[in-house]
Amino acid sequence: MARITAGIATSHVPAIGAAIDLGKTGDEYWAPVFAGYEWVRTWIKDNTPDVVILCYNDHASAMMLDIVPTFALGFAEEYEPADEGWGARPVPTVMGDPDLAGHLAEQLVIDDFDLTIMNAMDVDHGLTVPLSLVFGQVEEWPCRVIPLAVNVTQFPTPSADRCWQLGAAIRDAVEAYPEDLDVQVWGTGGMSHQLQGERAGLINPEFDNAFLDKLIDGTDELRAITRLQFLREAGSEGIELIMWLIMRAALGEKVEQLHRFYHVPASNTAVGHTVLRPVAD
Ligand code: DHB
Ligand code: FE
Repeated sequence: MARITAGIATSHVPAIGAAIDLGKTGDEYWAPVFAGYEWVRTWIKDNTPDVVILCYNDHASAMMLDIVPTFALGFAEEYEPADEGWGARPVPTVMGDPDLAGHLAEQLVIDDFDLTIMNAMDVDHGLTVPLSLVFGQVEEWPCRVIPLAVNVTQFPTPSADRCWQLGAAIRDAVEAYPEDLDVQVWGTGGMSHQLQGERAGLINPEFDNAFLDKLIDGTDELRAITRLQFLREAGSEGIELIMWLIMRAALGEKVEQLHRFYHVPASNTAVGHTVLRPVAD
């Protein structure tokens, strides 16, 4: 049977992708950011999954305002890196897993999640920057990826608790898949940041570190965070943290924290990163 073996969460700041692509990771500004990812870069070599279900958000790259799916599941054979205005990132094509994606779509819709199915889409920095941070600069990504794009750009966004429920349903669906697959669930985005308006540049380390703590064993409190609280405490883009809750719920009740990193700032964002492993009851 398929099983979820680990969860990874990380910020997905586009400037991090540019620093990698332009060979700037050793620069004074960037070196401390990339130092926080050395642990996962080593760990993943012995823990490469068959498939990553990658919960992220599209930033009006593949889905412009003419269509705003709340939850969009990738069902394509492959996904090209999106051109976000300065050319596509020079990273490999992302290979999908339509068999597992089809199973997830069926199970999740049966579980009352009204998913949008994406038969074709390009994937932006929300998906490709985390792949680069974890796998480095490679000729091919070492595993298949099922993109799960969550709307955090247009009100009304799904609630933290709805994302939690989706993660739990993903866990059930993966465990019901008959193939012997090692599956990881990743959540990208966050931590606190605000890119526009009077509070542009807002960063809230207290909120972020409490979020990282509660991700281990205070999840009821995270599920109760409202849209307004995210906005007030973590800035207008802090809502991206709801993708982390899908990842966390997919790991089940108890987890062990294998790695944690927090750094302020990269571009306009507080960078957070954690690796969690499910613990059997
Ligand atoms: C930044 C962060 C993001 O999450 C994003 O999607 C775009 C920009 C930033 O900090 O610059
Ligand atoms: Fe973002």
